Amino acid sequence: MLSKLCFSAVLALSFASQVYACGPATNHRIDRATVEQNNQARTTKMSTCKPKIAIDNVRVFNGHGLDPLSTVVIDGDVIGTDPTGATKHIDGNGGVLLPGLIDSHCHPGSLSNVQALTSYGVTTAFMMACYSREQCASLQGHHGLVDLHGASAAASAPGSVHGNLALGMGADPSSLVYNTTDAARWVDQQMEEIKPEFIKIVAETPGLSQATLDALVSKAKTYEKKVVCHAADFKAHHQATLAGVDQIHHVPSDKAVGAELAEVIRHRNQISVPTLSIMKAMAEMNTSRSYAASQETVRVYKDAHIPILAGTDANSAIAVVPFGESLHAELELLVEAGLTPLEALVSATSRPAEIWGLHDRGVIAPGKRADLLLIQGDPIADIKATRNIKGVWVAGEWYNGTLGA
Ligand SMILES: *[C@@H]1O[C@H](CO)[C@@H](O)[C@H](O)[C@H]1NC(C)=O
Ligand SMILES: *[C@@H]1O[C@H](CO)[C@@H](O)[C@H](O)[C@H]1NC(C)=O
Ligand SMILES: *[C@@H]1O[C@H](CO)[C@@H](O)[C@H](O)[C@H]1NC(C)=O
Ligand SMILES: [Zn+2]
Repeated sequence: MLSKLCFSAVLALSFASQVYACGPATNHRIDRATVEQNNQARTTKMSTCKPKIAIDNVRVFNGHGLDPLSTVVIDGDVIGTDPTGATKHIDGNGGVLLPGLIDSHCHPGSLSNVQALTSYGVTTAFMMACYSREQCASLQGHHGLVDLHGASAAASAPGSVHGNLALGMGADPSSLVYNTTDAARWVDQQMEEIKPEFIKIVAETPGLSQATLDALVSKAKTYEKKVVCHAADFKAHHQATLAGVDQIHHVPSDKAVGAELAEVIRHRNQISVPTLSIMKAMAEMNTSRSYAASQETVRVYKDAHIPILAGTDANSAIAVVPFGESLHAELELLVEAGLTPLEALVSATSRPAEIWGLHDRGVIAPGKRADLLLIQGDPIADIKATRNIKGVWVAGEWYNGTLGA
């Protein structure tokens, strides 16, 4: 069994290096030396084989509460059932074992961002904009580090805040959307060059028209891709709702969404990723933004039974939201805004796994990916307990760097 596991790891490695070596050339300004270093780090990390490990004396978070003390088995890269033959026993010391956390909105740009995410127990994350396939891919597939899923470029209009931001970072002008008929060209080009797992679009004023947002969504649907929409004010929420996007990211900082619009969002089965961390940081930088409106919208969404996913918008450019640590802060902010600690934990584990279609994770159960976060304390009694990090595993691999604290 063990030799079989090692063999498949080697196969996976040669496959990965082939894929990345053959990535398409892009026009975007990228730092080739860094991309090369990132890819190099991937190959040197792939040497160890994973034995069967038993974590004894832990209480498992089961999505509803905490199970009594038990043993959890890591068998290769998945959760096992039988501790017999475990080569190592780890004393969980009465701690709580959570499924690895999922950040549904962040912008890692370097391997140190990727390590920071992992060190805080974030084992899956969604990169919310990719302008270079090569650059994004160089952060993906790192053994023992957070599993990153990549967006397209953020569809935005020339002259908009996001359009100017993208061009300022060296993005090609063809990564902007110029008019309604250009929407189809843009989606085709993204699928060809960036090969995104989902499509990211931006609703803002000034920005893309409603007709262009609609056209982007319907074209993305021809590829069966989910569409997530940046919407940081009230009008943008309205536009995102009408466009029929799958997920609305951020919450307004001008005026809270009311029960009426929330009802429409609920009926369209749309999902909210509030990213309170960035909304709070932005409101602290600019007093004409209202963090109260953001919090109020989360309360309204909760009451309307709109699914809420934890996302941070961790980034290195706009406002300070640190990688990894911010997901723990986000859980606290969600609780402050009215979620129970249990609901907050679900928003970062089983719910995103289900909504993003990652059915191999999000819960601690036999056969699921061994993405685990060991903490001390009871996070259902006090959400801050998630910060007492004692261990992190990614697909069964122990994170051997300094843990987040
Ligand atoms: C839309 O934009 C594209 C790209 O700039 C341009 O080639 C095309 O002529 C425009 N079409 C309309 C109807 O404005
Ligand atoms: C502050 O926020 C308001 C409302 O979003 C915006 O109009 C204004 O440009 C912002 N000011 C700065 C300095 O960013
Ligand atoms: C962790 O890293 C240290 C040095 O960085 C090394 O000595 C140790 O063997 C590693 N432990 C595991 C379990 O990989
Ligand atoms: Zn973002």
